[in-house]
Amino acid sequence: MPSLIPNIASPLLSWYHQHARSLPWRDHPDPYAIWVSEIMLQQTRVEAVKVYFERFLQQLPTISDLANADEQTLLKLWEGLGYYSRVRNLQKAAQVVVLEHGGQLPSSFDELKKLPGIGDYTAGAIASMAFQCPVPAVDGNVLRVMTRLTTDDRDITKPAVKKDYFCQIETLLKPLSRSGDFNQAVMDLGATVCLPNGLPKCESCPISHLCQAFAQNRMLEFPVKPSKKPRKIEKHTIFLLRQNDRVALVKRPDSGLLAGLWEFPHVQGALSLKHAVAQLEQWGIQTKHIEKSIPHTHIFSHIEWRMSSYLVTGKEHQFSSFPFIWVSKEQLLQTYPLPSAFQPFASDLLWKEKPV
Ligand code: ADE
Repeated sequence: MPSLIPNIASPLLSWYHQHARSLPWRDHPDPYAIWVSEIMLQQTRVEAVKVYFERFLQQLPTISDLANADEQTLLKLWEGLGYYSRVRNLQKAAQVVVLEHGGQLPSSFDELKKLPGIGDYTAGAIASMAFQCPVPAVDGNVLRVMTRLTTDDRDITKPAVKKDYFCQIETLLKPLSRSGDFNQAVMDLGATVCLPNGLPKCESCPISHLCQAFAQNRMLEFPVKPSKKPRKIEKHTIFLLRQNDRVALVKRPDSGLLAGLWEFPHVQGALSLKHAVAQLEQWGIQTKHIEKSIPHTHIFSHIEWRMSSYLVTGKEHQFSSFPFIWVSKEQLLQTYPLPSAFQPFASDLLWKEKPV
């Protein structure tokens, strides 16, 4: 059976011409801006990325600024976006671009893919949008649109399926001069019309007349993918330690989850008040006042942290207790990158009056 895919280009491009979302990286379409936006968008929603993108480019306007930025500045700019290895790879890649490509992002799909943090999808997105190369950018949105269009019941997590769509779309793009627009049209269609959760808005879809899932009213059957493993649940006890208007932070290890970011001291398990005091003693903290504070839960892609907390005031002038550092509220807000998991505790600390 002939593929339906070649027929979608023309209606999709006309639709995109009228309905393209206005996004900040589309207003300055230079390769660096497109690259930064695509790395931010890898695991994060468009709405959340917008402010991060503007601030990042304002503070690090060139690839060489990014290559030379210090780690804390970089992590602070990424604070809250999660998946911090993305920004570390972004900087490593910027250093390679400065050293090996004279500070200019390479323009071909194959050269882009050699850079840290750039895989098939991101190389396709940058090459097509910044350099008009006829290459696809196949992500979950594209796979959803394509499998609905063709009622394809193959498991989309299989690399062979992605590769098949890559080849089919590449064939379609070769004679077109608007590969970047085509790729972004499919992204926008996936984000605003061919929705992932709940019923898609087929009445607004420019290619519904070609869509087999729509014709058979089977939109929700696609894409097919294996069900996810349930998240692992971990309990933690967080210590909000205060002394003389400063709070204790500790640096996370240089590898693993949230590597190199800062956090409030914490231990595994939900500690009773008695065990919490014993833990503080073990750290050499002399407690003046301790009270239970608000619990919070944070959901990562693969783990759920259920965090209970204690608000603790230490004895006056007792700073130290290595490896803690004691920071002012301003430093907490402006200097030290704190992962989202701990942000609700920071807000509790900042709004709460001192205990008597
Ligand atoms: N998601 C990833 N890249 C995107 C882009 N350039 N436009 C809209 N959504 C996207």
